Amino acid sequence: QGKTERPQLLIGRRIVVTSGPTHEPIDPVRYIANRSSGKQGHAIAKAAAAAGADVTLVTGPVNLPDPAGVTTIHVETADQMLAAVEAALPSDIGVFAAAVADWRTAKAGDQKLKKDGKAIPPLALVENPDILATISKSKAMRPQLVVGFAAETQNVIENAKAKLQRKGCDLIVANDVSLDNGIGVMGGDANRVHLISADGTVSWPTLSKDDVAERLVAHLAAILSTETQ
Ligand code: CTP
Ligand code: CA
Repeated sequence: QGKTERPQLLIGRRIVVTSGPTHEPIDPVRYIANRSSGKQGHAIAKAAAAAGADVTLVTGPVNLPDPAGVTTIHVETADQMLAAVEAALPSDIGVFAAAVADWRTAKAGDQKLKKDGKAIPPLALVENPDILATISKSKAMRPQLVVGFAAETQNVIENAKAKLQRKGCDLIVANDVSLDNGIGVMGGDANRVHLISADGTVSWPTLSKDDVAERLVAHLAAILSTETQ
């Protein structure tokens, strides 16, 4: 309570948020996945809705409830996530917080792979579409403000700066997800993030993922209001 009376910083704005991992099938019973919990992406969707935005959340498989007041679309694979994001556009803001699997199997088996006592089956992989880069570089669909994430285990800021360039987004929220870091480890409740943009790098203190989400929403609202003036 008390938390319901937020400044309506994003009233009249549309925002699309991706969250969670993707699952890429190997066969009907197995898949490739990662440790993303979806907590940060879901927190951003929730904070944007609390700020009055019209929010569509496109999420991979997570153990989280759908945030109240948010249109939530459930997908499994990167291909499905891209299609759902495209269907949800246009929007003023795109926040791409999902940990999209970089690769999928070249061809998922129709039947369960069996141990036949012979060779171990190889996993042939192909690259998934880069959802953030696709939307960011699209002339027809690009939101005014495109935000990516960079989960890194080393050279966090350097790698994030390269991603900002490569993906053509306006802002990268970078964090250290190395297992010995403790803070920001995938699945945890806290995050220590660095905001990287053409204006430079700003580092925030260690915060809960909910607080990172609220600050980010306020930051994005401030950028939009100055750009729109
Ligand atoms: N991303 C995406 N689609 C992909 C891969 C990544 O939309 N197929 C987005 C993520 O949601 C995130 C950003 O791109 O906002 C950076 O993801 P990350 O995995 O850190 O970058 P990659 O370009 O995949 O590079 P690498 O994993 O090799 O560090
Ligand atoms: Ca990746």
